[in-house]
Amino acid sequence: MLEVQAATSGSREYEQSFEVRYDYPVYFTRDVFDPHNPCLMTALARREPDKRHRVAVFVDDGVAPAYPTLEERMVRYAERHAGSIQIVDRVVVVPGGEAIKHRHDCVEQILKDLSSRHIDRQSYSLAIGGGAMLDAVGFASAIFHRGVRHVRLPTTVLAQDDSGVGVKNAINAFGVKNLLGTFAPPFAVINDTAFLDALPARDKRGGMAEAVKVALIRDAEFFAWIEREVGALARFEPNVMDPMISRCARLHMRQIMHGGDPFEQGSARPLDFGHWAAHKLESLTRHELRHGEAVAIGIALDTRYSVLAGLLPPGEDTRVANVLTRLGFVLWNDAFDFRNDRRRRRVLEGLAEFQEHLGGELTITLLAAIGRGVEVHHIDPDLVEQSIRWLRTLTK
Ligand SMILES: NC(=O)c1ccc[n+]([C@@H]2O[C@H](COP(=O)([O-])OP(=O)(O)OC[C@H]3O[C@@H](n4cnc5c(N)ncnc54)[C@H](O)[C@@H]3O)[C@@H](O)[C@H]2O)c1
Ligand SMILES: [Zn+2]
Repeated sequence: MLEVQAATSGSREYEQSFEVRYDYPVYFTRDVFDPHNPCLMTALARREPDKRHRVAVFVDDGVAPAYPTLEERMVRYAERHAGSIQIVDRVVVVPGGEAIKHRHDCVEQILKDLSSRHIDRQSYSLAIGGGAMLDAVGFASAIFHRGVRHVRLPTTVLAQDDSGVGVKNAINAFGVKNLLGTFAPPFAVINDTAFLDALPARDKRGGMAEAVKVALIRDAEFFAWIEREVGALARFEPNVMDPMISRCARLHMRQIMHGGDPFEQGSARPLDFGHWAAHKLESLTRHELRHGEAVAIGIALDTRYSVLAGLLPPGEDTRVANVLTRLGFVLWNDAFDFRNDRRRRRVLEGLAEFQEHLGGELTITLLAAIGRGVEVHHIDPDLVEQSIRWLRTLTK
């Protein structure tokens, strides 16, 4: 231990310093509960290959009815691999969608379910569902025994290409989205395309906004590909959906691995391009607008802003808006017109809320080029106003 300095007052300071290494696999597969599919087995057994692993399973209530034989198939899979996997007790069906993040009794119930199944720090919670449900089960799993192993099977496009492969979880509290949560890398993630078959069009589309986002800030070639394949993507053709999800997920993973700040200790959230307005629009519409739909609007807004601020060449804004519109997104929402007592647009409150979440200086990602994000520390409300008016003209 390093003694940094002997203070004259008689105080002493010792520096404590260590690193913790995380690693987790992300699988892309089809039909994870086919008895011949090795992904789940391999994931659970990757630390202790010769053990029977105890697993508590949670399923999103949007997924359960869409896949009525899911529990049966899971049980059969576990029976087939009985030397390695034990599903403890029945599968627990939990509310899907934003409701699970609002209702704290849900988290309490998940904690009770983990407790009654005697899940310890070397057994597993396995969550099968959309981003909201994964956030809530992930949060409960991160605080139970100070963190039990958590395996995610994301079942929406957004959860497979963004939220499910990341290191965060959260629930909402005191009217603020994602106020309570932890940074807790999963033990493993398995993206199974079969779960997307029954997904409603709205949720298939939502996750594409995150692909457009990450392409715009990191990968011009990916954006050009989305532009070329926009028709097939709008029809959700699997031969384009699969590569889109995988490339988007890998770009998110790369940012976490190589971005230098996996637990967001600085003031920047580089992957949150378009998100300051998106988060506010979600809450102003009481989550009628889904996350991905709000992100599409936020992207169009901040791309137009980038042009007006002289960062991005004129015309690129129309190009981005065209892609989003052709994917099926509506780039206007009447919540833009909600105003506070001082007649100021309420969406602008999103800037302060965005800053408050991280602390430090306001840091917003804009575009310096298609494929290249740039951070700024000041946003001009007049230019935001002009950008909002531009969005309105697009839908008129
Ligand atoms: N932790 C993170 O880093 C992170 C990042 C981005 C977003 N998020 C969060 O993710 C949430 C949004 O997630 P989402 O877009 O996946 O939506 P969602 O989880 O709200 O799910 C949308 C709806 O689809 C249903 N559903 C899920 N899978 C289905 C399937 N395969 N078939 C039929 N129905 C299905 C759900 O029950 C729900 O009703 C938001 O709460 C957002 O804040 C978290
Ligand atoms: Zn997002």
